[in-house]
This record gives sequence, C-alpha cells and structure tokens, in this order.
Amino acid sequence: MKQLDRRDFLKFLGATTLTASQISLLSSMTSCNSDTNTTMPINSIKPSFEDKLILAPNFNYKIVVSWGDQINEKETFGFNNDYIAIESLSSDKALLWVNHEYALPVFVSGSERTKENIDKELQSVGGSIIEINKVDDNWIFNSKSSYNKGIRGHTKIPFSNKTKIMGQDYAIGTNSNCAGGKTPWGTFLSCEENYYKSYGERDFKTGKRKPSTIGRWETIYDYPPEHYGWVLEIDPKTGNAVKHTSIGRFAHECATCIQTNERTVVYSGDDKKDEHVYKFVSDTNDSIDSGKLYVADIENGKWLSLNREDSPILKSKFKNQLEIQTYTREAAKLVGATPLARPEDIEIHPITKDVFVSLSNNKDRENYYGSILKISEKNKDHTSLEFKAETYVLGGKDSGIACPDNLAFDQNGNLWICNDISGKDIGNAPYKAFGNNALFVIPIAGKDMGKVIQIASAPKEAEFTGLCFSEDQKTLFLSVQHPGELTSDSKNPTSTWPTGKDPKPSVIAITGKALEEYTKKSS
Ligand code: FEO
Ligand code: CA
Ligand code: CA
Repeated sequence: MKQLDRRDFLKFLGATTLTASQISLLSSMTSCNSDTNTTMPINSIKPSFEDKLILAPNFNYKIVVSWGDQINEKETFGFNNDYIAIESLSSDKALLWVNHEYALPVFVSGSERTKENIDKELQSVGGSIIEINKVDDNWIFNSKSSYNKGIRGHTKIPFSNKTKIMGQDYAIGTNSNCAGGKTPWGTFLSCEENYYKSYGERDFKTGKRKPSTIGRWETIYDYPPEHYGWVLEIDPKTGNAVKHTSIGRFAHECATCIQTNERTVVYSGDDKKDEHVYKFVSDTNDSIDSGKLYVADIENGKWLSLNREDSPILKSKFKNQLEIQTYTREAAKLVGATPLARPEDIEIHPITKDVFVSLSNNKDRENYYGSILKISEKNKDHTSLEFKAETYVLGGKDSGIACPDNLAFDQNGNLWICNDISGKDIGNAPYKAFGNNALFVIPIAGKDMGKVIQIASAPKEAEFTGLCFSEDQKTLFLSVQHPGELTSDSKNPTSTWPTGKDPKPSVIAITGKALEEYTKKSS
C-alpha cells in the first residue's frame, strides 16, 4: 500500500469532520510513530501451521491463568476463556472478568449425556472474576484473593427490574458467554451467544421447543431456552450479576457501550448467518435497565425502532414489549433489518467515534473471508437514528485476513483484530494461505499505516479472543481459546499448547517494546 497523504489519512480514519485539535493530535501521532518505526521496524510474521504461539519480534508473552487453575477453595478457572475485561483497583492491582464460552466434553466431562458430565460442563462455563497483581512489570494471578469467584451454569441470576420470563424472575445459570463490554460505571457485560447449543430454542410462531444441538442439558435440567441469550451485567467487586432484558435476546456476540450526556448506548451483534446489528439507547446515562432497542438497516443508513408503540406491524404480531425483547430476531425481520454475514465484535474508535463491526463470513452466500464494516453515526451522535456505512477492511488474500472476529482499539486508535477460521477449515481451501488463527494490527499512523500486520499466530486449532489492554496499555491480555479443539481422544490431543502434553485454554499477557511503540500515549 502506498504511503497515505494527509487527505487519504483523514479519509482512512473517516475523520473528515474532526475538530482542529483532533486533527492536530492525529498529525502529531503520524510523525511520532513514523520516527519510531524507522528505528524499530515491526515486521509482520508469516502465517504458520505450527502448534506454537508465535509472536513478532519484540513482543513477549506469559501465561496468566489456565483452565483448571484453582481460583478459590471450591472453584477452578473455567474452560475456553473468551472475553476479558479489566477494572483497576490500584496501579498494581486489578480485577479481570473472563468469559468461559463453552466446554469441550473430550477434555471437561465425557460424551455421554449423564447428570455427572453435564454438571461438570455447567461448572466450566459462564465466567470468572480474578484478581491480578503487578510484580516486576508482570501481571500475576492472585489465587488467594477474596475477589476470585465464578459465575457459572448453576448460579442463580435475577432478571433486571424483577422481570418475569416464563413465570420466573431469575434464571439458573449463564452459558455461551462469548464477548461482552464494560459499562461507563465500571461493571462488566457478558453476552450469552450460542445458548441454543445448550438448552435449545423455542419457535416463536409454533411455540414448539427445538432440542439443543450439542449440550442436551435440557435432558437433565429442563430450564426454558428463554432464560438464555441475554446480556449479563456483573459488579466486579461483589460478583453480583443480573440478566438485562432491555438489549434483547439473540446470539449476542458483544455489548459495546458509549456514554453521552443523557444516555448510554450499547451496540450488539447477533452472530448468526443473515442476522443483524442492534443498538440500544438507555433512558438514563447511568443504567441500562430500560431504554429503546433499534436494529440496523445498513442499506438505508437507518436505525429501525423495535419499540412496539412505534410500529403497527410489531403491534399486530407481539402481545407486549417483553415478547419483542424475547424473540428479537423475529421482530427485527418484520421491520426490515439488513441481514449480515455473522456480526461479531463491535468497537468504537477512541478518536473518530466511528463504530467498527466484524462481519465474520457467510459461506452460504460464498462470503468466505468476511469484512469489517464502519458505521459513522450522523453528527457523531450515538443516539442518532441515521448513519453512513462503508466497508473498512475486506477480508481476503489481499488484506491477509480471513474471518475477522474480536476487535480492540488501543488508546492511539490502532485497530487490533483477532480472526476465527473454524478449526476444521484451517489449512483447507479456501483458507490454506491464512495459516492458523492470528492476531493482527492495523496501525493508524507511521510507514505501515493502513496495512494489516500479523503480530501473533495461535497454536493448532486455537483462536485468539478477548483483547484487553491494561490501564497503562503496556500489557495486552488475550485469551487463547480451544487449542486442540478437534481432539477425539484426550490421551492423543491434536495440540499440546501450552504444557507440551495437554492443551489448556489460557489467558496470556503480551508485553514488549514493540507493543509499547503502538500503545504509548502520543504527546
Ligand atoms: Fe463466540 Fe461469535 O464468537
Ligand atoms: Ca467471538
Ligand atoms: Ca468466534
């Protein structure tokens, strides 16, 4: 890619309406990083099929915590860690929330659907609060902390506002916790994604329950599917959790928040082929208990209301607003939402405030590599009902990335991306050129500005997820999820990362001079 000139650079950022001071800040970042890049070139690593965690030069990693580590007297760190959020307690103490998306029976339990095996799986999913301490510039897991706690498949969790769903104002457990978000008031959001694999689903029109596709948990615990597919809010200091019904029920990938003077806005993607992107606008700026839910019409740049009072068609098909919240996909289709290629993570650029959405892929429509969509709200107002949308990065061999999934911006606005080619597709057409899943960055400035640079390669069959920067941005926490996921015999695993014997999903902390070159605050 050619060096972008100033006009291209602003276009690259979608920043044509930035204020003079913001342009000045961005320009200073350009010259600053250009200088550092001449002294320390950061070379993209090549795609790899090795069963190793490979990093570009001048990046290092250490394991923070792994599946099975004791977090308190009764609980261990769950399986398949995914989303990570951080809340600082002091300069050398912080709490992490880590999602545990799902349990692979070959490692956690066993293929038979017995109560004993299902109980093991319920105890391995949900999420964990853990304390970490900074010792000699490294973040270390504090296994003795009284904050350490699991919120799992067995935990009783109330619905917000004492809302009754299927006659009950609480659910038993959470599962399929994929990505999430952090509220402006310091609580964590955890998203229930593929709940139908554990408890099945009910057909809205016929009322018939469809069995779960994998877990068959409903054969032992007959909990209603309507109790799952919500967004949890967790207080990191108490471990108290609620399930919000306000943001709707679907395969929530993420819940990305931004606060305005009067509202908190939450963006969420529904990670299923031909599903949608949603936006929730709260009634107040210090709570997401109530508000209005919208769904994106990408072609016309409009947020469509899912409020029953705003729509004759919704009024005719749904008894009340809670029914719309519970069967959100049906309502979205009735108002004309745009079908998308598996909306995954969403992040908001820290400077331009544009909203970036990973669209992973949709093989049914011969979309194998996905893209990243950029949504620019009208007048940069996140409560606006109008926006412009354009493709920011197109997946494929030219960009070097396939199937984008988790995203994060560092404080300078560099975009960090993890991709997720499914384990059975890695190494096979049309994904052969991409190697194992990886971590990438698109620099906002410097000689590599706008290029997709591969920073890390994941172990065999694993996916990187949960990108989370420490407050000083010197550490990037990352989940290494499902290494060896195609294993059929645990004695003969397809990956042995990180122990050399067995695969263990783990949280790692990436540090190093090269990371700091990207993330150090521009003066
Ligand atoms: Fe759990 Fe959409 O990734
Ligand atoms: Ca994901
Ligand atoms: Ca994924």
